[in-house]
Amino acid sequence: MKTAIIGYGKMGREIEKILLERGHQIGLIIDQENASDLDSKHLQGIDVALEFTTPQTAYDNIRRCIDAGVAVVSGTTGWTDRLEELRRYCQEKGGAMFYTSNYCLGVNLMFRLNRQLAAMINRVDGYDVRLEEVHHTQKRDAPSGTAITLAEGILSELACKSGWVNRMAEPGSTFQPAPGDDPSQIVITSIREGMVPGIHTITYESEDDRIELKHTIKNRRTLAQGAVVAAEFLCGKQGVFSMDDLLK
Ligand SMILES: NC(=O)c1ccc[n+]([C@@H]2O[C@H](COP(=O)([O-])OP(=O)(O)OC[C@H]3O[C@@H](n4cnc5c(N)ncnc54)[C@H](O)[C@@H]3O)[C@@H](O)[C@H]2O)c1
Repeated sequence: MKTAIIGYGKMGREIEKILLERGHQIGLIIDQENASDLDSKHLQGIDVALEFTTPQTAYDNIRRCIDAGVAVVSGTTGWTDRLEELRRYCQEKGGAMFYTSNYCLGVNLMFRLNRQLAAMINRVDGYDVRLEEVHHTQKRDAPSGTAITLAEGILSELACKSGWVNRMAEPGSTFQPAPGDDPSQIVITSIREGMVPGIHTITYESEDDRIELKHTIKNRRTLAQGAVVAAEFLCGKQGVFSMDDLLK
């Protein structure tokens, strides 16, 4: 597979290692300095582009790949209000696109467990739910894309919740409900701390007990590996895919 890396930051560099280990070629690397090279001419002969950049640049980058007829795997978070638009554009153009807010297999298993647990909680009384995500201090968006996916999973199953709100907190602080909290909203607490690659915790609490579903990413390698496996899956296909398609 001949690939392009779009965004040569922490993820782009990790993806580069995995691509080479798995015997793939890297024909093009795009970062901020040569961003204008992301066009049909430079993308010629590329099978799949892997896009991990910024919330401000992802939409345009993915669109340019679709316009050039190159399959694109993206994991950039913080811009997904326009994801549906881009999915439709990709279908119209007969392109190929893969997006997930988290390429770690374990997180995707947690997405499923999360929906199952929310459906069970929906049948009993007395529990309130909240989310917490912890990431490194360089992360630009909050809450994390993964936390938003988890919140959306809960909202699809739990009748008493209709939306989410985000709250930043200091490392080490414990969750405290605020007086004006709207009980119909899931509180997502975001903590930015050190070099943490990603911790997500869903907590259901009643007067008498607490259920916690927690996932900790130990390193970025698992994320990069998932993205490369997604690229291998996407190569030669047409359409719009997510991790659910890959896990099937
Ligand atoms: N879906 C997942 O599994 C997953 C995993 C990790 C990170 N992420 C997301 O991926 C994105 C990148 O993460 P990171 O940790 O590599 O960040 P990073 O800041 O280390 O890297 C981003 C890179 O994009 C470059 N860039 C900026 N504008 C660009 C443009 N127009 N064209 C090409 N490159 C450009 C920057 O110079 C930088 O090198 C973030 O949104 C992050 O939240 C997603």
